[in-house]
Amino acid sequence: TRSHVEYQSVKKGKYSHYMEKEIYEQPRSIKNTLKHYLQKNNTIYFPELKKNNIFYHAEHIQIVACGTSYNAAMVSRYWFEALANTPCDVEIASEFSSRKLAVKRKSFLITLSQSGETADTLSALRHSKKLGYLGNLTICNMEGSSLVKESDFCILTHAGIEIGVASTKSFTAQLTVLLMLVSKIANFKKNYLVSKNIIQVLNTLPDKIEEILKKNELIKTIANKLSNKKNILFLGRGEQYPIAIEGALKLKEISYIHAEAYPAGELKHGPLALIDKNMTVIIVAPNNALLEKIKNNIKEICSREGIIYVFSDQDFDYEENINIIKLPYIEELIAPICYIIPLQLLAYYIALSKGKDIDQPRHLAKSVTVE
Ligand code: G6P
Repeated sequence: TRSHVEYQSVKKGKYSHYMEKEIYEQPRSIKNTLKHYLQKNNTIYFPELKKNNIFYHAEHIQIVACGTSYNAAMVSRYWFEALANTPCDVEIASEFSSRKLAVKRKSFLITLSQSGETADTLSALRHSKKLGYLGNLTICNMEGSSLVKESDFCILTHAGIEIGVASTKSFTAQLTVLLMLVSKIANFKKNYLVSKNIIQVLNTLPDKIEEILKKNELIKTIANKLSNKKNILFLGRGEQYPIAIEGALKLKEISYIHAEAYPAGELKHGPLALIDKNMTVIIVAPNNALLEKIKNNIKEICSREGIIYVFSDQDFDYEENINIIKLPYIEELIAPICYIIPLQLLAYYIALSKGKDIDQPRHLAKSVTVE
């Protein structure tokens, strides 16, 4: 495990908080993650998952995790199914360990964790060993951690030491590894086009994030307007739904504003009742097949006078009063990894303007080693 000395040697430099440093570090941390597994000939190599590893013979993937790692797993579920045609379920670790499971045929277990020491995730792994999974893999940021030691196979995320309690660069590194893993499965299933395409697009990711980080001044102004809010609703569809969840989690953790995320399609089944002129709604709406549906959701919120902030690479020509944070064009494959960046910045700048203890939010710990 990492030594105390190693942690102490991480300095904030020009940044006010570790979280700020870690947000801005992401182009570099992702480049580093990619560098570890992307080879010169543009193929991916995971040392522990050699060709024909039992993992590639799985007919189902079960992911267990907690917190931000769980949200990364939720995104990857869309990828495993859409891009690699592999059924995937995701469960909160503490729930997974505490219920009677019916394990699917030829299922493989993945644990996802920054620290590798989260007690709930660790006990889920131990629990799974009695249940007849094909095997287990951990995707983890900490070499030598308990999860790494106790798992059959391991892929390190190489995000570097993360100190801020609210996880940022670990999340995007996890998504990067998960997308590479999806590419490997697609390749194993002879879907070479998808596999190659993922690699090509992943190569553009660090520069894209760099571009998005340049929206920081605009996001700071919005943050100042939102810092006195009591409630904020986050909406997304498809793989942007877990991004909305992660955006809401970041905000809760460090600004103590009540934030809730919903799949935009569920708006009419409850949360619409909350909308009035005092309710702020943040929407992640990249230009994809779901955009038209999101536009309808926006109209529904507008007509009830909700205050809307939309993050999108698309123009909206509405008469209604909505605030658009225009992002650069982003390839659909990497959109979830890109769209979390402005939400991290938003949470950070809101907490900053409220004067909160950003790196050490009240009642929370970086690594939760009790169940
Ligand atoms: C704690 C941290 C979160 C983290 C979660 C899971 O709640 O405060 O930031 O996402 O644990 O941690 P892990 O190390 O397993 O990813």
